[in-house]
Parts: sequence; structure tokens; C-alpha cells
Amino acid sequence: MAPQATLHANLSEPIILPDRKPFGIGGRRLCFTHPDDKTKCVKVLRTDQQRTVRLKKKHFIPSHWRRKYDNNAHEMKILEDLFRRLGPEMKQHFPVSYGMQSTDLGPGLVLDLIRDQDGGISRSIREMVTNGYPLEELKSAFDEFSIFLFENVVLTRNLHDHNLVVQHREDGTWRLYLIDGFGDSAWLPLARWFRPIGRSKVRSRIAVAWPKMENLQPLVVSHQT
Ligand SMILES: Nc1ncnc2c1ncn2[C@@H]1O[C@H](COP(=O)(O)OP(=O)(O)OP(=O)(O)O)[C@@H](O)[C@H]1O
Ligand SMILES: [Mg+2]
Repeated sequence: MAPQATLHANLSEPIILPDRKPFGIGGRRLCFTHPDDKTKCVKVLRTDQQRTVRLKKKHFIPSHWRRKYDNNAHEMKILEDLFRRLGPEMKQHFPVSYGMQSTDLGPGLVLDLIRDQDGGISRSIREMVTNGYPLEELKSAFDEFSIFLFENVVLTRNLHDHNLVVQHREDGTWRLYLIDGFGDSAWLPLARWFRPIGRSKVRSRIAVAWPKMENLQPLVVSHQT
């Protein structure tokens, strides 16, 4: 059963987000803690001028349509498909989607919010490493995540350090979650149709991700005297 059927009975009431500062700001979306449920987050599309616009400026699609391209709707569908295929197992490394809910900042996608054992919101690999945490300490969590992707043939976009969050668990270990960049970007879905092609695509995503993250550097704060 799709998990969203059990949640948010009152979908007609928009939830109010403005006074809450987003805990996460991506190129395209703002992420808020869900006001009624601290285990979930709500993602709304950014509308400011600094947001990332992925489509080329000179495009044959009219601009008023382009602005409507909805990353959230696309992501919701992919996560729902994943839940249908893997069931609650997906929770090991992915947030579950609970569907769209209206907010005062526009339609919001409701997802599991990844939190550490102490209740704090889990941080991305980029945030951890730029703050001085050694990447090497996250290698076994990355390997475990990679095995999960490979064994279940879960297609993803490029695995970016800012889209992988690491959860600190009770036993002191780390667990990786992909919170953005799901699915196959290919126009022709061969990787979805043919498992061996899917597997080789997953393998190549994994192979490039770690070496790329090794280029991350801790931010050096310079003190002027
Ligand atoms: N479910 C989640 N649990 C914990 N942290 C999250 C979650 N979703 C997002 N974040 C945090 O918020 C940041 C921005 O979220 P997200 O990547 O979804 O935004 P985006 O605009 O789609 O990103 P991009 O710039 O990659 O397009 C992430 O880098 C991550 O640190
Ligand atoms: Mg992101």
C-alpha cells in the first residue's frame, strides 16, 4: 500500500511555513521541518532569482511553462514507485514520500526527515567534510549504501555530496541516505527496462561518486590579526 494513503487526512488546509526558517536550502527548493510532525519535512520550490534553473535559457518551451517544471512532482512519483517495488526496505537509505500538501509557500512535498540519534537533523556529506569530519570515516556507510543500490538496482542521478545525508545512529555508526537526485535521467528508459543495463548504470554512478567526494576540502577559517 502506498504510504501517503495513511497520512495527512486534512489536505485541504494549507500548512503555514513562513516564520520557520528552512533547515535546508538547495538550488531549487527550500526544506522545512513539518509543523505537525517532526519526523517529516516539507519541500517547496524556490521562486527567488538566485534559484538554480536547470533548463537552458534559449529553449523552445515557453518560459511560463518552464517555471512550472516541478521537481517535487517528479520526485514524488519516483519515490512512490520505489516504495511499491521495495516496500519499507527502502527506508534503509531513502526517505518515504507522503505526497503533496498545500502550504502558504505553494505545493509542498512531504518526505521523511532524516535525523540523528540525538534528534538533530542529519547533515550532508558536504557539510560534514567541509566542517572538518574525515571523509574516510564515512567509507563503510558509503559501501553499505552502494551495495543496497546495486542489489536492488535503484537508479539515481549523479550521487552528489550535498544530496547524501549521513545519519548518526545509536550504536555510533553512520548510515547514508539519498535525499535528492532520484531516478534515471535518460530520455530512453533502457536502464529501467533491462536489469543488466540498470545494474551497469548503478555501478558507474557508484564508481565516480567516492573519488569526486575525495576532492572535498575542509573550509579553512582565516583569522586576521
Ligand atoms: N529528507 C531530508 N533529511 C535531512 N536533510 C535533508 C532532507 N532533504 C533535504 N535535506 C537537506 O536540505 C538540503 C537541500 O535539500 P534538497 O537537496 O532537497 O534541495 P534541492 O534544491 O532539490 O537541491 P539541489 O541544489 O541539489 O537541486 C540538502 O542538501 C540537505 O542538507
Ligand atoms: Mg539537493
